[in-house]
Amino acid sequence: MPDSLSFLAILFIIVVGLFVIWLIALYIIDTTQTHDTIRKNYPVIGRFRGFFSFLGEFFRQYFFAMDREEMPFNRAERDWVYQSAKGEDNTHAFGSTRSLTSVGTPIFVNAAFPPLDEEIDHHIPPVIIGPYSRAPYHASSLINISAMSFGALSQPAITALSKGAKLANCWLNTGEGGLSPYHLSGDCDIVFQLGTAKYGARDEDGNLDDRKLKAIADKPQVKMIELKLAQGAKPGKGGILPGSKVTAEIAAIRGIKQGKPSISPNRHKDVGNIGELINLVNHMREVAGLPVGFKLVISSKQWCEDLCQELKNRPIEQCPDFITIDSGDGGTGAAPMPLMDNVGLPISESLPMLIDALTEHGLRDRIKVIASGKLITPAEVAWAYCAGVDFVNSARGFMFALGCIQALKCNKNTCPTGITTHDKDLQNGLDPTDKAERVKRYVEKIHYGAGLIAHSCGVENPRALKRHHVRIVQPNDKSKPLNEIYPTK
Ligand SMILES: Cc1cc2nc3c(=O)[nH]c(=O)nc-3n(C[C@H](O)[C@H](O)[C@H](O)COP(=O)(O)O)c2cc1C
Repeated sequence: MPDSLSFLAILFIIVVGLFVIWLIALYIIDTTQTHDTIRKNYPVIGRFRGFFSFLGEFFRQYFFAMDREEMPFNRAERDWVYQSAKGEDNTHAFGSTRSLTSVGTPIFVNAAFPPLDEEIDHHIPPVIIGPYSRAPYHASSLINISAMSFGALSQPAITALSKGAKLANCWLNTGEGGLSPYHLSGDCDIVFQLGTAKYGARDEDGNLDDRKLKAIADKPQVKMIELKLAQGAKPGKGGILPGSKVTAEIAAIRGIKQGKPSISPNRHKDVGNIGELINLVNHMREVAGLPVGFKLVISSKQWCEDLCQELKNRPIEQCPDFITIDSGDGGTGAAPMPLMDNVGLPISESLPMLIDALTEHGLRDRIKVIASGKLITPAEVAWAYCAGVDFVNSARGFMFALGCIQALKCNKNTCPTGITTHDKDLQNGLDPTDKAERVKRYVEKIHYGAGLIAHSCGVENPRALKRHHVRIVQPNDKSKPLNEIYPTK
């Protein structure tokens, strides 16, 4: 017994001694280094700052952030999606935790005599996109899966989205990284996106390869083609895919050389003005035989006007079949903060701007409008329909449905939910079959919730909502009808 006690005492002295030596070493390192002022002025103890900042990133959302204050999505919004996707009860008790006087809050105008439940036809009629193309697309889902590439998202995530889109009867946009077998795995409707590198439909020099575009368009699942000019998180920015990420599979899907870095130009080389844009849209429609439109971020009324002028000078068939308008606060896998934070109007301003220009020039019926940008709950979706949209797209709403916890690690290959990582161990937890069900339930709950708002406003379904059905809270705490802020022409 005394022997084991003295052994423990010696062990304790050694451990304490090593600890003191370690502290002295840190003290010497901190006081002799020159690149960190805090550590130089507060040796050893200054290191806790970095450690606590690191921990804060993980713990804030659990312990400190209020339900309505996190960005980009607060806990109340995320929880709504999680509960909906899991099929859990998402009713709430006692009263709203949302401030109804914050500037920009939408408040819907309820009808005194809403339709009786038994009078409501829950079937939402499809909207026809691309009536002049060889294969017009009939689409009905109020919300659809926005562009996210295989590469930005993992294989099980794309598989779950594809299977979920099939169950929910909505479309899945491929994103600019080409059409992968995982997009096709669920046999859902697909919108093929063509980005500036023309991945999936390019020749060796990065120019559009008509043969490849036709081969993609000939797949029965592919219903429309979207030419991507820009996305909200990084308008005007291209990118480099490092050689290390160009695996044999990615190389084959994108049509690039394995192991070699691949550059996405910051603009389509062949589209430098509106005329060239419309020419390319028409060329692609001719080759593909499908409805073709483009995705962009709009920050200028004049640009909408210039677009309409160009279209008015051409036969109506030459119009793009749809325009997807992305909000300046859209998401992405990785983007520079100056572009993410301050470039591109939010959808609340740009959507009415585009709709008004199209309406004024008599083009609104011909060109369908799709909007995206933090439209992830029924109220936001219903707002977009009041503003005049034909369809809503969401990327991050569906990521939440897949289980995303907003860890903000999409650019690090360490996504803890397996959605944006290619680490097989992390992907292990993402079961595509279970998550496909969640995607379906999320779409159903959006339809149900936006429908509730529409019925409360006295109309049959969200597509019948008009600007006068929503009021927006102004800086003086009073709300104003959307049709007074943006008078419909
Ligand atoms: C991980 C990720 C990848 C994305 N990849 C693309 C892409 O390839 N092409 C594109 O046009 N937009 C891309 N986006 C933008 C989304 O399609 C969408 O326009 C934007 O995030 C706004 O919708 P949200 O607020 O519902 O996420 C991506 C977004 C995310 C989060």
